[in-house]
Amino acid sequence: MDPLSWTWLVFIVSFVFVLLSYSPEVYNFLPHLIKDVVVYGKLLDPRKRTGIQQYLLVPKRWFVHFYILSFIWNGFILMNVVQCTLQGSVLPLWFSKMMSFLTSYPVSPPAVDLLTVLIAMAVIVIHAHRRIYECLAVSVYSNSSIHVTHYITGIFFYSFIGISIMAEGPNLSLKGTGEPIQLMDLVEDLRWHHIAGLLMFVWASWHHHIAHVIFASLRKTKKDVSRHMIPQGDWFDYVSCPHYLAETLIYTSLAVILGGHHRTWWLVLSFVFSNQTAASVKVHRWYQGKFEDYPKERKAFMPFVF
Ligand SMILES: NC(=O)c1ccc[n+]([C@@H]2O[C@H](COP(=O)([O-])OP(=O)(O)OC[C@H]3O[C@@H](n4cnc5c(N)ncnc54)[C@H](OP(=O)(O)O)[C@@H]3O)[C@@H](O)[C@H]2O)c1
Repeated sequence: MDPLSWTWLVFIVSFVFVLLSYSPEVYNFLPHLIKDVVVYGKLLDPRKRTGIQQYLLVPKRWFVHFYILSFIWNGFILMNVVQCTLQGSVLPLWFSKMMSFLTSYPVSPPAVDLLTVLIAMAVIVIHAHRRIYECLAVSVYSNSSIHVTHYITGIFFYSFIGISIMAEGPNLSLKGTGEPIQLMDLVEDLRWHHIAGLLMFVWASWHHHIAHVIFASLRKTKKDVSRHMIPQGDWFDYVSCPHYLAETLIYTSLAVILGGHHRTWWLVLSFVFSNQTAASVKVHRWYQGKFEDYPKERKAFMPFVF
């Protein structure tokens, strides 16, 4: 297994441990420093953190950095793939070297074709663009924080999702192998899984967006800014964290676009699933503890299941 796949695996295992640590027996025994790492945002009270712990927190509104990074970096990768496709050029040497160092690139035969890589990369860039808009123009943040390890994890995640997609795509680093491809020839490679994945992406993105609009609508005045209330409507009627569910569906839609043959992407998806379910379970318990009238039938992450 290559270094990037190992790293995804370590992250998956870590979040499975985070999930296990939510058992009260385990959690109560954790030192504050570790507790800060397993909870964040509204669950983490910075006033209870003293000494070095308070310096290890960064504002949660810095989430926007992840999406700006993703938009620029994954946009750069997409631009290079488009150039390789339409002009028959090759990837920059430093990028190919970095890919070979971190992943098994180039794999032979590739797990996915050029059109699939192009669609998947475009989806990642579109997602980043929408999230920048939401962070800057929709969401109303309080002064809540995240632990610096979450921040570093986010930077890692958005730096490596595009590379993960490229890892099992066609070899675009060999001079002389690339012939310019006409747009119409590419369209001939369109398959049902591209269409199904794109439809799923639009559906999940819509509900993801609505969840953030509902959160923002709970804080209409400056007075409300640090208050957390019970969200209602759309998928909130079924689960406490529809945005985490929708996020997981967005990354599942990419697995569909990739046709299910892309092993590295299954690792990325497992990581998203593990961290978003872990966060949902914790947030759900927090709502249940804070609000006596919290809807009893509402689940944490998966409607009617958990
Ligand atoms: N791909 C990944 O691995 C990954 C990992 C983490 C997050 N994400 C995505 O990033 C997005 C943001 O995540 P997050 O953890 O920051 O979400 P979050 O904690 O639910 O916060 C989202 C926004 O809603 C506000 N909010 C949350 N609960 C509220 C309530 N009960 N009442 C009023 N306002 C409320 C928050 O304000 P505060 O400032 O008060 O918190 C914040 O502005 C999510 O859509 C998530 O799916 C992705």
